Amino acid sequence: MNHILSPGVHDFSDATLKAACETLRAGHLVAFPTETVYGLGADATNDHAVAKIFEAKGRPSFNPLITHVPSLEQAQRYGLFSKEALRVAKAFWPGPLTLVVKRLPDCPLSYLVSAGLETIALRVPAHKKAQSLLQASALPLAAPSANISGHISPTTADHVFSDLPQISILDGGPCTGGLESTVLDVSKDSPQILRPGLISEDAIQEVLGETFLQQATLSPTTLTSPGQLSSHYAPRTPLRLNIETPTPQEVFIGFGPGGTPSTFNLSPEGSLIEAAANLFSHLRQADNQAQTIGAKGIAVALIPETGIGHAINDRLKRAAAQKNA
Ligand code: TXA
Ligand code: MG
Repeated sequence: MNHILSPGVHDFSDATLKAACETLRAGHLVAFPTETVYGLGADATNDHAVAKIFEAKGRPSFNPLITHVPSLEQAQRYGLFSKEALRVAKAFWPGPLTLVVKRLPDCPLSYLVSAGLETIALRVPAHKKAQSLLQASALPLAAPSANISGHISPTTADHVFSDLPQISILDGGPCTGGLESTVLDVSKDSPQILRPGLISEDAIQEVLGETFLQQATLSPTTLTSPGQLSSHYAPRTPLRLNIETPTPQEVFIGFGPGGTPSTFNLSPEGSLIEAAANLFSHLRQADNQAQTIGAKGIAVALIPETGIGHAINDRLKRAAAQKNA
């Protein structure tokens, strides 16, 4: 553990790069530069590490995150690339374009990264230092902008430090882009821009040729919170929340020690960060089990409304509402 990068800003060097890789492999966060903004990175295959991103940013809900990979070849190990997806990837990668694609059946990425969805967002950054980190760590890195939720996206290491002084930060100088990557959904028949960004709609349409971009029906609300167009994860089985005593027809997801015995427990020791890490995988497993044994519903124990508990409850409510709507 002696090669873990300490919190604060570090100049980019062979030694700090090596330490950053070990820090990430140990499941901790490292902020790093990209050509758009600084990202708050975590091993995208590690649920617990990804949960730390949400905790550090203080996000009120679990939005799906972008996973950064060093090449299209690596990206194809995680997601399914259609003809159109390949065409835009070849035209714009490495660069500030994020592609939403279907997850491959054996995809090892955390379900927390995709907020439980069957699609994943992938990006191959062009920034040399981001590339060095991806290659040296050999890890896919989940990374939203490295700021506290609601604050402006950081374009220097000092910006990151002023929001997140507890994080290890690799300083790669100022980001030239300043604006986030364009998010393009190529998981469906007609590609659609989910978040406008550095790569323009015209440039994408030109590469797509005969395949036309689907125009988003952007309401004023979605325009002010771009990227909010993705649907939410909902299990097939109806969900009941804040349950102390489940019925015999329900699969129970517990939280903390004691209480009614449960098949699944989001955190036997009562840790909210562990609960966040387990949230989507446990929901999926409980859903599968409920479908297999023909259970009437899934009951979830009360999750405290503190810290990352807000984000957990937000997602649970959406999952419950979607199914019961
Ligand atoms: O420039 C950038 O993209 C920066 C740098 C660090 O690379 N990263 C960034 O990441 O902005 P993040 O995680 O904050 O952006 C995620 C965006 C959101 O708009 C989210 O809704 C969308 O991507 N997204 C991620 N996964 C998705 C999915 N499976 N389906 C639909 N949208 C998704
Ligand atoms: Mg952001």
